[in-house]
Amino acid sequence: MKKFPTSSEFAAQANTNPEKYAQLYQQSIESDESNEAFWAKRAELVDWIKKPTKIKDINYDLDDFRIKWFEDGELNVSVNCLDRHLVDNPYKPAIIWEGDHPSLHKIISFKELHSEVCRLGNAMRKMGVGKGDRVALYLPMVPEAVVSMLACARIGAVHTVVFGGFSAESLASRIVDSQAKLVITADEGVRGNRYSPLKTNVDRALDVDGTECVEKVIVVHRTGNSVPMSGRRDVWYHTVIDNSNEDCPPETMNAEDPLFLLYTSGSTGKPKGVVHSTGGYLTYALSTFRDVFDVKEDDVFWCTADVGWITGHSYVTYGPLANGTTTVMFEGVPQYPTWARIGQIIDKHDVSILYTAPTAIRAMMKEGDAFVRESNRESLRLLGTVGEPINPEAWDWYHSVVGEGRCPIVDTWWQTETGGILMAPLPNSVDMKPGAAMNPLYGIKPVIVDSDGVELEDAAAGNLIISDGWPGQMRTIYGDHKRFLETYYTTYPGSYFTGDGAMRDEDGHYWITGRVDDVLNVSGHRIGTAEIESALVSHPAAAETAIVGMPHELKGQGICAYVILRHGEEDSERLRGELNRHVRAEIGPIANLDAIYVVDALPKTRSGKIMRRILRKLAAGEFDGLGDTSTLAEASVVDDLIKTVKSA
Ligand code: WT7
Repeated sequence: MKKFPTSSEFAAQANTNPEKYAQLYQQSIESDESNEAFWAKRAELVDWIKKPTKIKDINYDLDDFRIKWFEDGELNVSVNCLDRHLVDNPYKPAIIWEGDHPSLHKIISFKELHSEVCRLGNAMRKMGVGKGDRVALYLPMVPEAVVSMLACARIGAVHTVVFGGFSAESLASRIVDSQAKLVITADEGVRGNRYSPLKTNVDRALDVDGTECVEKVIVVHRTGNSVPMSGRRDVWYHTVIDNSNEDCPPETMNAEDPLFLLYTSGSTGKPKGVVHSTGGYLTYALSTFRDVFDVKEDDVFWCTADVGWITGHSYVTYGPLANGTTTVMFEGVPQYPTWARIGQIIDKHDVSILYTAPTAIRAMMKEGDAFVRESNRESLRLLGTVGEPINPEAWDWYHSVVGEGRCPIVDTWWQTETGGILMAPLPNSVDMKPGAAMNPLYGIKPVIVDSDGVELEDAAAGNLIISDGWPGQMRTIYGDHKRFLETYYTTYPGSYFTGDGAMRDEDGHYWITGRVDDVLNVSGHRIGTAEIESALVSHPAAAETAIVGMPHELKGQGICAYVILRHGEEDSERLRGELNRHVRAEIGPIANLDAIYVVDALPKTRSGKIMRRILRKLAAGEFDGLGDTSTLAEASVVDDLIKTVKSA
């Protein structure tokens, strides 16, 4: 197996080394006492209003379930991200914003960011928004998105960011579930010179029953194209900022108060609102950012994720800003105006750390090296990836072409639920293996189990669980604690079930093999098959459907739909196009159906369960070795399916 040592250039300045990592990791997990002592030390990186005396209280027994971190501590997250940097570094860039068009950029200092956050905080308070109220953010990648998150944190409101690529329907269901009082949006979003009608989507969402909770809509003026503003409800962002003062006393929050909700897909039902805490989440985002990205005072850190995903929460906003690190926000897409854009941005802003997704790396790789080589990328010293397993070819290309062989790659494994990174090869702590997340971070105890929950030792493959807890772990599903316990703490009693499979090799290094449930990972974004199925059958032509993942060269996983049409409906390319448009409109463009097979029947067991295993194989073009089909209610169904798929 190919291993990549850290370049001597990087090693010479690295914050850690193999011995230090091994020693601190061992200490952090050795005993309950040393684990608690480790986290107590990490919590010292936070500025507390009241320092916690209790560090950790975790019990995964379902009768007396508790997850509490730093429970008597008090703090304010915006103070940690802003105020505390104003003493030494008021004029340091907090945000470098690069607009969709290369002619647009803005540099916002910590002082300026602080001032705008305070103004918005005051404006929200004036609107009657306070501690515990939910605020939905439906914004493009503009600085106002980060301002809004931090302004919520300042006044104790709970933000729920909804990715700007989601549809009006998806937005509505999140507003209904969270009962948000306020929505912050923009007139339009711009990506790759294409405009998206955010305000119009908000208007449509607010026509849906159950959204009457929304009292006000604040609208950021981004493109200036005219949008309908409804008199009493809608106000312009710049107007409320202009009319507010910048003296906004931070709300004192308990460590266990929620900081935000973020909706993510599960294997069943509607997306669930993952609840993250104030003290534990901040401690975890802050400390993992430092450890994983080998952070130095002058770093310019660029995470390409949208703030609509957890990666954008922890590593565009909270992790960097809590550390006083300059964070780059990019509004656009890697291919606009050309595929050279990523490299151009690195050179333009002297980016030293780039954190992106395998899907973007593969897309750039496919366009050829010449685009990347238009830039010199001299400022880069570290690379990161996240969202899905990275294939070794893409890893090699990222390492040798983008990073010119001198930048280590941190392959970071984590989830919306975990709040921050749980596994990665900390820079200069280990020789990297392309495709492996390698090692747990400090304090994290991964365990591999078989389907009966028996722990597998040494080199093994199975399901990945985490015993014990960490401060960044989710606390509940908003409004549905029962579903929370069932989803994560029932399958393997006493441990957190990740939903991922993993392999541990002979050297003890971890490789994530992908989801073991009905959750797809499309371009590093999570979508539940049940969610897509329910969107698809809401089309009048569709009677029944099964969604499975299929291999996709760029996206990692694509979406494959098997559809049974209603009586009287006829298969045609036009109809299939319409079904696809319908699903994209219901969920958002990320739910694009990459293959649609119209079939007469689905393979079911005698008890009526769809045998997805077979559908997955066929979708991948594997027609032999379909495994045990003896439990099928009707064996001929499979032959018909094979014919349909082969002839498509
Ligand atoms: C799922 C979580 C928080 C990261 C962004 C996605 C997969 C994530 C890796 C990685 C292999 C990965 C897992 C995980 N995943 N990172 N480095 N290697 N797989 O967050 O939407 O909550 O998805 O993404 O399957 O369970 P998410």
